[in-house]
Amino acid sequence: MQLRKENILVVDDDVNILELLQRHLQSWNYHVFKAISVKEAVAILRDSNIDLIITDLKMPEVDGFELIKFVSEHYPKLPKLVVTGYPSVQGSLDAIKSGVVDYLIKPFTKDELKLAIDKSIFIPKGKEQKSDAFSGSKSKSYGDIIGDSEKINDVIQIIERVKDNKATIFIKGESGTGKELVARAIHYEGKFSRAPFIAVNCGGIPENLLEAELFGYLKGAFTGAETNREGFFQAANGGTIFLDEIGNASLAVQSRLLRVLQEKEVVKVGSTKAEKIDVRIVAATNSDLRDMIKKQTFREDLFYRLTVVEINIAPLRERKDDIHLLVDKFLFKYGVEYKDRFVKMTPEALTVLERYDWPGNIRELENIVQRAVIMCDKLIDVEHLPEHLKYSLNFSSDALVPLKVMEKQYIEKVLLATGNNKTKAAEILQIDRKTIRQKLSE
Ligand SMILES: Nc1ncnc2c1ncn2[C@@H]1O[C@H](COP(=O)(O)OP(=O)(O)OP(=O)(O)O)[C@@H](O)[C@H]1O
Ligand SMILES: [Mg+2]
Repeated sequence: MQLRKENILVVDDDVNILELLQRHLQSWNYHVFKAISVKEAVAILRDSNIDLIITDLKMPEVDGFELIKFVSEHYPKLPKLVVTGYPSVQGSLDAIKSGVVDYLIKPFTKDELKLAIDKSIFIPKGKEQKSDAFSGSKSKSYGDIIGDSEKINDVIQIIERVKDNKATIFIKGESGTGKELVARAIHYEGKFSRAPFIAVNCGGIPENLLEAELFGYLKGAFTGAETNREGFFQAANGGTIFLDEIGNASLAVQSRLLRVLQEKEVVKVGSTKAEKIDVRIVAATNSDLRDMIKKQTFREDLFYRLTVVEINIAPLRERKDDIHLLVDKFLFKYGVEYKDRFVKMTPEALTVLERYDWPGNIRELENIVQRAVIMCDKLIDVEHLPEHLKYSLNFSSDALVPLKVMEKQYIEKVLLATGNNKTKAAEILQIDRKTIRQKLSE
């Protein structure tokens, strides 16, 4: 995968458009900055080195025209691309006069977007030297999936293979490893991305309702069924249905699912008529379905139909080389959200994060970084991390080592926990600073 360096700032008051643009741009390896208002955009322009700005025109408060004017004045060399749902002649004239390179009318296709971006970015311009305003480390990503470990690259390879066909996919992974994220990437990176993606949490809907919700029902099929209704499968027609926590589906739902997989048709509750559908099914679970099969709570035939392609997402502790990339992403995300700026982290704090074993995986990491961003000023240090991370430091405690070695390891641990503050460490250890230095050099 080729990594592009260009930073693209997208500005729109509609988060759906922001996310759509982000997905497309990231699939071409651009680095995406999102702003939901002109005010936010101006802050990002100030703090980051942006190579292209893509903006909506109609926005509440300050609109896109103002932004274009501002950019033309303050960043005359920055190319601008306008995306708008209101193609007014006056609007386009104004935009073009103010130096906008291209103009896209919503809805646009992925190809139209690509063309407009290539045109804007590759127009020769005297590009200023890049400052190192961002973290400096380049983020590796695929869709919204961040990571460059072998394990995550394997996952991305499978996504690449399946995204453009409708093979049934089964995603396995501990809680918080990114199962839903991967399901979305399969849909949005593939050629059916313009069709719907519907996520259903099979554990979140009462058992008796799940059947009706998934497959639809006829009026009078049960008490409360006052009209005919389409189910989620019909709603996802042409696209993808994501069946999360599939292990929670009742045996009744399972047998209907089997029918969908075998015959590619659904039968509404209360009906006998089969309706053809064309949906890609992505199922996920963190429970052990093989064990459920043994206990006869999960159908074996369904299991084999579901697991045509299996994606195993490794827990974070098995791909620790992704931690710094993920941290970067979350620092940026929450820095902009809470502090209006990019927040950094000391190497010591990062070391603490890299040593912890993350039972809650990426979700836990994100929460901890979010909290640290709130707690810190502009630099996250060890003190901004929760206590239990620091004390779970693993200094191969089960290996038997001489007292001297253990002493040294313990001193290192205390230093790490105090952010390398020798005075504080000396206080905790009740020895003086000179002794610390001496013992470390032994
Ligand atoms: N590789 C990744 N890059 C960036 N963000 C990630 C990555 N993996 C997970 N996340 C983020 O972590 C959070 C948890 O991911 P997700 O909801 O997909 O996990 P899950 O496996 O479905 O968890 P659960 O089993 O608890 O439902 C989300 O906010 C997601 O965006
Ligand atoms: Mg999930």
